[in-house]
Amino acid sequence: MIRLEGISKAFEGSQGAVAALSDIALTVTEGEIFGIIGSSGAGKSTLVRLINLLERPTRGDVFVAGERVTEARGEQLQALRRSIGMVFQHFNLLNARTVAGNVAYPLELAGRYGKADIARRVASLLERVDLADHAAKYPRQLSGGQKQRVGIARALASGPKILLCDEATSALDPQTTGAVLDLLREINRDLGVTIVLITHEMDVIRRTCDRVAVLDRGRVVEEGPVTEVFLHPRHPATLRLVREAEPDGGVLDGGGALDLAGRTVRLTFRGEAAHKPLLGRIARENHVDYGILAGRVGHIRETPYAQFLVSLSGRDVAGAIATLRASGVDVELQDGLPDSVPSVAERSRHVV
Ligand SMILES: Nc1ncnc2c1ncn2[C@@H]1O[C@H](COP(=O)(O)OP(=O)(O)O)[C@@H](O)[C@H]1O
Ligand SMILES: [Mg+2]
Repeated sequence: MIRLEGISKAFEGSQGAVAALSDIALTVTEGEIFGIIGSSGAGKSTLVRLINLLERPTRGDVFVAGERVTEARGEQLQALRRSIGMVFQHFNLLNARTVAGNVAYPLELAGRYGKADIARRVASLLERVDLADHAAKYPRQLSGGQKQRVGIARALASGPKILLCDEATSALDPQTTGAVLDLLREINRDLGVTIVLITHEMDVIRRTCDRVAVLDRGRVVEEGPVTEVFLHPRHPATLRLVREAEPDGGVLDGGGALDLAGRTVRLTFRGEAAHKPLLGRIARENHVDYGILAGRVGHIRETPYAQFLVSLSGRDVAGAIATLRASGVDVELQDGLPDSVPSVAERSRHVV
């Protein structure tokens, strides 16, 4: 649906050119919610603005729906902009216009719709974002969440295939954020709109996206399904973003809590496995003791997960690890030694 190939973007500054994006390659598939996460200044807004050509790349190509649009002008550019809606952090509403007037605005500008047609479309859009009762109000009479719903209705007015959301929930409190993210997911599901969601918050990605790319200083440093990137972050920038969402995230790196008497492993349970008492049963069957050193549980979209840093010791640690793996648990050894190495406790028992 969207393909960026070898994209670089430099801005002319007072001290010469500043590289905002370097050699970006990304593909967003039709129908998905694709997240782009990065800290402030990473280049997120520049990247999203390249998709609807509010910025032009210094190098590389932009493809939308199979068409190369890098140099689109005139009618091609207008058609592209109509096929892409945009939602902003600070809503960008017209204060002198009512809610209905704001949503009608892009339709009036397009000059292709009659008055009655516009009124009908606006009513249906306001229905979709649950603001039918607020049509005659002005932006100053609305809460932040309601303003963003107006922003979303306006972005949908021209019937776009793609919705770009640049920090759409960053000005909202956590509860309102949840409601707006639910609305975006509904729009994705019911209207089949492909969504590119830009944020500096890992929680927004975890709740909403199918896949995610991590942007760090203008480069994509990690990319994949949210479950992978969130549960097994590899790049330091990703680790930092996951930790910000979970201040006690010692489970990500062992937190230095290595138990020398046993083998320290990181266990990741996903889906059904997150609810089963697997660990206790497998430990018993293999005559192994376990101690939980750190843990986190939650959901990635609807899928439950549980991740524990565990110390295993006792008779058949290798057997327990093999059984856990066979049961679909992801087991990562934290000491870098092969599975078959006995725990220190076992080794010393053999010596004695
Ligand atoms: N119009 C511009 N002119 C000059 N520099 C810019 C412009 N837009 C963005 N930048 C620079 O590009 C970098 C990336 O900015 P931006 O895309 O806004 O990051 P983010 O949205 O991730 O915070 C920053 O260093 C920023 O100062
Ligand atoms: Mg930005």
